[in-house]
Amino acid sequence: MLSTLIYRSRACEPMSADALDGLIRQARARNASLNVTGLLLFDGVHFVQLLEGPAQSVESLFDTIGRDARHKSVVRLLRDHGPFRRFEGDEMAMVDLRDLAVTQVASLILEKMKKQARLAVSDDRVIKILTWYALARDTSHIVEGEDAANWRFVADEGASSEPCLQPGQTYQFALQPIVEPARRAITSFEFLIRSQSGGSPEQLFASVPPAQRYRIDLESKAFAFRLASRLCLDDIKLSVNLLPMSLVADPSAVDLMLDQIAGCGLSPGQVIVEITEQEAIVNQRDFGAAIERLRRAGIGVAIDDFGAGFAGLSLLADFQPDKLKIDRKIIQNIHADGPRQAIVRAIVEACAALGITPVAEGVERVEEWCWLQAAGVERFQGYLFARPALNGVPAIHWPQRTPPH
Ligand SMILES: Cc1cc2nc3c(=O)[nH]c(=O)nc-3n(C[C@H](O)[C@H](O)[C@H](O)COP(=O)(O)O)c2cc1C
Repeated sequence: MLSTLIYRSRACEPMSADALDGLIRQARARNASLNVTGLLLFDGVHFVQLLEGPAQSVESLFDTIGRDARHKSVVRLLRDHGPFRRFEGDEMAMVDLRDLAVTQVASLILEKMKKQARLAVSDDRVIKILTWYALARDTSHIVEGEDAANWRFVADEGASSEPCLQPGQTYQFALQPIVEPARRAITSFEFLIRSQSGGSPEQLFASVPPAQRYRIDLESKAFAFRLASRLCLDDIKLSVNLLPMSLVADPSAVDLMLDQIAGCGLSPGQVIVEITEQEAIVNQRDFGAAIERLRRAGIGVAIDDFGAGFAGLSLLADFQPDKLKIDRKIIQNIHADGPRQAIVRAIVEACAALGITPVAEGVERVEEWCWLQAAGVERFQGYLFARPALNGVPAIHWPQRTPPH
């Protein structure tokens, strides 16, 4: 199977024409034996390379190239399959963009391509990507995070817990902070529901008859607020999850929550409801009215898992929350993934235009955090900072600059 891969990267050091020649000679010899063809663009700082050939050869070569110490910030831009090669017969065409005027770039790339590929110019993603990167002479089209080696994560001593189940307590909650590391601040705690034995929300809700799901979803929040009160979290925001239909199914849902909040000596302004969209919203009008009631009561609203399941663009178009939590599947490996980077940059821009605070969920790697910070995300949740703690506040790991050697 013929596959095509495009990535970009940054040269670690300035590269002379001779060094570049040497790299290309070495590449061509190896590519010939691997049956790989392609194109390498270099503008003095960034590489953009296209590799095409048998899928396995392309993948293993990309793996080798990714580990090459001559460049870093390797980001995959495209992985695709096609019926023919664009650079047939060329073990690695090279275009040194430093030698070219902007007006020459697109035609030179096309010249290097096979005739068959040139015919598809107007709607060929490969040509569009190559010319997009080749023509951009400033670097605003690229976001690169700081070097992860500049940071280490150190735990604070803030952990505390409330291990005992209270009489009649049917649910438990695990707390995970949402943090703003630049201010070393906890902006809120998310209360993640667990069963009485500590099981996941999926296990918990699977054991409940569907007809009772929404009622239990609502009632369980009382335990979260009680735990917050016992842990003396009265000056920090508390995020709780709600199924959208829990708000719609019971018209008094918001009043019930307000009673729960007041009963624990908390204030509505402290609470954020995260709308978890594991199910479609059946009745948009009733849902909109329920959101309005939350707003009027002073309760904050966040869209959870944005980009997964049903939590998509139309939900954001229909109602603008205070916070938008970007799903972990989009965050995972973002430092090396071009499509994910393009999506998150667009989300951050939309959030800025709408006054919404974006939050990255499921951050596990220092590299992910470095890239997200560079892209303008300031709030984070994930194992990198803290794992959820059952009935308590976990220790939080804060980034510290590593001392220079
Ligand atoms: C930007 C860049 C592009 C490269 N392109 C190729 C290539 O197309 N084919 C190739 O065999 N090596 C390429 N290399 C070199 C490989 O990373 C690696 O050094 C080479 O394949 C030798 O690997 P080995 O030491 O495992 O044999 C490239 C290196 C860089 C920095």
